[in-house]
Amino acid sequence: MATPAPPADKAALRRLFLSLRDSLTADTRLAASRAIAARLAERLPVADSGACLVYLPMRGEVDLRDWVSSALAAAWNLALPRADWRTRELVPARLRALDEVIAGRHGVPDVLDDRFEPVSLDQVSVVLVPGVAFDRRGYRLGYGGGFYDRLLPRLRPDCLTVGIAFDQQVVDALPAEPHDQRVGALLTERGWQEM
Ligand SMILES: Nc1ncnc2c1ncn2[C@@H]1O[C@H](COP(=O)(O)OP(=O)(O)OP(=O)(O)O)[C@@H](O)[C@H]1O
Ligand SMILES: [Mg+2]
Repeated sequence: MATPAPPADKAALRRLFLSLRDSLTADTRLAASRAIAARLAERLPVADSGACLVYLPMRGEVDLRDWVSSALAAAWNLALPRADWRTRELVPARLRALDEVIAGRHGVPDVLDDRFEPVSLDQVSVVLVPGVAFDRRGYRLGYGGGFYDRLLPRLRPDCLTVGIAFDQQVVDALPAEPHDQRVGALLTERGWQEM
């Protein structure tokens, strides 16, 4: 396994993987997103009594909206992370329907203020974690705000965290700083890997 590069490389890696992701065609993105959703449906039967913290795609992320719709239709408790830009924390908000979601600050999908109902982190049993890149150890590169690094340590110890990415976004080793958190599993169109 390659030795992790120093953290100064994070910004350059972020640019590299964002441009790689941007260069995927709409067809590739759609096919891979469908494959990922199919694997997710196999892995996560909706029987779970806990809440699932999902994400909605922005900036070319893997699009799991169809999976989210079926989970909502199956009455799974879903939550959407709301960014608190002051504290840089993610606050889970009840997600009732996709048409309640708007493009919030910096284009981040958000629920309307007057529809906001918090979901306690004690209820969350699964988190789908988007990312700019992941490594084989479960380390993640995000957009650089540290939001998921602050969220993951606050989850229940038995909570399953699944990094979601296109295969092109996965490398052997990313630079990891002491605050960087790992996901428990990684899902791409090529398969599911437990850490
Ligand atoms: N638990 C934490 N407590 C305080 N600051 C933190 C914590 N986690 C991350 N940070 C801060 O956030 C900054 C960005 O973190 P990092 O470079 O790891 O971003 P990222 O993981 O790519 O972003 P994100 O998780 O938002 O997608 C770090 O420089 C660090 O100062
Ligand atoms: Mg980080």
